[in-house]
Amino acid sequence: MAPKSHKNPTKLFLQCLLAMFLCSQSSQGTELKETFITVYLQDRSAGPGTPGGLNYTVVPVTGIPGKLWAFNSFGTIYSGDDPLTEGRDEGSAPVGRMQGIFVTASLDGTIVQISASLVFTNKKYNGSTLELQGASSYLNTVREVAVVGGTGKFRYARGFATFETIYYEASTVYCLIQCNVTVQHYENLSTKDYSLI
Ligand SMILES: *[C@@H]1O[C@H](CO)[C@@H](O)[C@H](O)[C@H]1NC(C)=O
Ligand SMILES: *[C@@H]1O[C@H](CO)[C@@H](O)[C@H](O)[C@H]1NC(C)=O
Ligand SMILES: *[C@@H]1O[C@H](CO)[C@@H](O)[C@H](O)[C@H]1NC(C)=O
Ligand SMILES: *[C@@H]1O[C@H](CO)[C@@H](O)[C@H](O)[C@H]1NC(C)=O
Repeated sequence: MAPKSHKNPTKLFLQCLLAMFLCSQSSQGTELKETFITVYLQDRSAGPGTPGGLNYTVVPVTGIPGKLWAFNSFGTIYSGDDPLTEGRDEGSAPVGRMQGIFVTASLDGTIVQISASLVFTNKKYNGSTLELQGASSYLNTVREVAVVGGTGKFRYARGFATFETIYYEASTVYCLIQCNVTVQHYENLSTKDYSLI
């Protein structure tokens, strides 16, 4: 039998190009990296019927005039700044904040549009951020949103983040949420010369 396959030259050329591309990438220290992070959101959400005098971390700032401003009421906009901790305990090591806006975006009030940053202050990711965006339904035990970008150690980040409420205390509106992030990003990406001349 005649030898059936010798390498397709076009394919071989493309493979070489790809190899060159990958080599030049790693030699600059800009390898695509996958990172997994678990943090805990220490959340106290203000809303109708919640007691006064608490240190709320999520507060409704506006809504449809004449309509109840609540997380399950279409048109309500919340502003939030939740502490992020390494462990479940409220007193465990702080690692950053989740700061953003939350808009009840579905007419039936079940879906909240999240636009928020995880702003890290721990040693490893100090000053770096991850940008989260997506639709979150409170009917789901596990909510998932997209990681659409990042800064610092997370430049060019993309991936996804899950949120799961693991503890809730009605009297103090305290809510403990576990957030898992899976993200691909380039570490140590150098700053290029942006000058126009
Ligand atoms: C990025 O920098 C850190 C600290 O300088 C270093 O430990 C790490 O190996 C670097 N990563 C890559 C992919 O070059
Ligand atoms: C609110 O925060 C202040 C300052 O951190 C603290 O002294 C106070 O005990 C907190 N109040 C409640 C109800 O958590
Ligand atoms: C994070 O960076 C800030 C400002 O650069 C610095 O003041 C702070 O000590 C750093 N925190 C950690 C944990 O390294
Ligand atoms: C989040 O990660 C933890 C481990 O850190 C795991 O136990 C948990 O099941 C994960 N949650 C989701 C929704 O993937």
